[in-house]
Amino acid sequence: MKLSDCHNIDDFRTLAKARLPWPVFDYIDGAADDELTKARNSSAFDEADLVPDVLAGVAEIDTSCTIMGRTSALPLMLSPTAVQRAFHWQGEKAVARAAEKFGLWFGISSLATHSIEDIAALTGGPKLFQLYVHKDKGLNASMIERCQHSGFDALALTVDTIVSGKRERCLRSGFTTPPRFSPSAIWSYATRPRWTLDYLLRDKFRLPNLDTHVAEGSGKAVSIADYFNTMLDTSMDWDTAARIRQDWGGTFCLKGVMSAGDARRAVEIGADAIMVSNHGGRQLDGSRSPFDQIREIEDAVGGEIEIICDGGVRRGTHVLKAICAGATAASGGRLYLYALAAAGQDGVERALGILRDEIERGMRLMGVTSVSQLTAERLRWR
Ligand code: FNR
Repeated sequence: MKLSDCHNIDDFRTLAKARLPWPVFDYIDGAADDELTKARNSSAFDEADLVPDVLAGVAEIDTSCTIMGRTSALPLMLSPTAVQRAFHWQGEKAVARAAEKFGLWFGISSLATHSIEDIAALTGGPKLFQLYVHKDKGLNASMIERCQHSGFDALALTVDTIVSGKRERCLRSGFTTPPRFSPSAIWSYATRPRWTLDYLLRDKFRLPNLDTHVAEGSGKAVSIADYFNTMLDTSMDWDTAARIRQDWGGTFCLKGVMSAGDARRAVEIGADAIMVSNHGGRQLDGSRSPFDQIREIEDAVGGEIEIICDGGVRRGTHVLKAICAGATAASGGRLYLYALAAAGQDGVERALGILRDEIERGMRLMGVTSVSQLTAERLRWR
């Protein structure tokens, strides 16, 4: 299979699986416990049906919208995801460039393999930095300052990762940063020579936004679960979030809100947006899907805060359904990560092109010419 054979997001997943050593593929594809929530995040979209109008004159349509004060060419954002150079040597730079080309928000993770400054210099597109709250308060402050100096448009505080989810595929494969060539997985490295040679011959990646911490400082490979469980601050609470919002002073988003009550508290601390998210099913398995929760959250805080429906999106029609349900926009990680792993920036651009086509086609077939016409009357729940 090659890139030109990819016609939907699932095709990129197939190609990524063929190209990545299995510990790396399982890190992207895997989720917590029985992976019920990961599956549900996508299947939830099948529980609601779009109701099209016809003869609406759809020669000209406008797919753009405003998200956190910046224009986005589509109601879709690229969620922040960790260690992208483990998936393809081009890493976050490839994703940031592709996002800018398509006029979309790019989210960079605290655990990125390119620095805050490098990404800021690379793209003039809308970009947010995703912050984990570390026990080391100096580290949190330095990340916030670096983002302020680099001109990031928004800060997204992830609040669903107070401890690591039990990601059993990672436990079995022993995925670490940097990757460790464990004997049990050596066959998969040997049979994926392109990835393995890229990794061995190019600069070894680091986690530059963590300064001297993790891997780099200790010289040891570290699992993502170890990072969460040793470095993150489990005492984080609403006061912490309010303080960070104040220290940052700019556009602020809470990532990982799932309940209507928490959405209300997000409004109270002055957040501009929430990402309704269960971290792609990687944290609390059995959690409800973001799409299922959108209506409840929209009832509670609609109009007071922007609501991003994060996770499970694999189709343009999923994006349309999320907007009809009350979201400002949808967002996702794996939808571009499989493509990054499959073919670097070319892969991400092809995936985004496919999703853009699907969104445009879906809008025309529904008889709508702008995102604002995607309303609750256009959706029926089964
Ligand atoms: C993530 N996600 C994530 N979230 C975050 O706040 N910080 C991070 O560093 C990461 N890292 C990360 C790595 C990988 C490999 C994945 C798949 C996900 C979660 C991400 O931002 C988003 O919430 C999910 O990806 C949404 O689910 P889908 O779109 O992947 O189904």
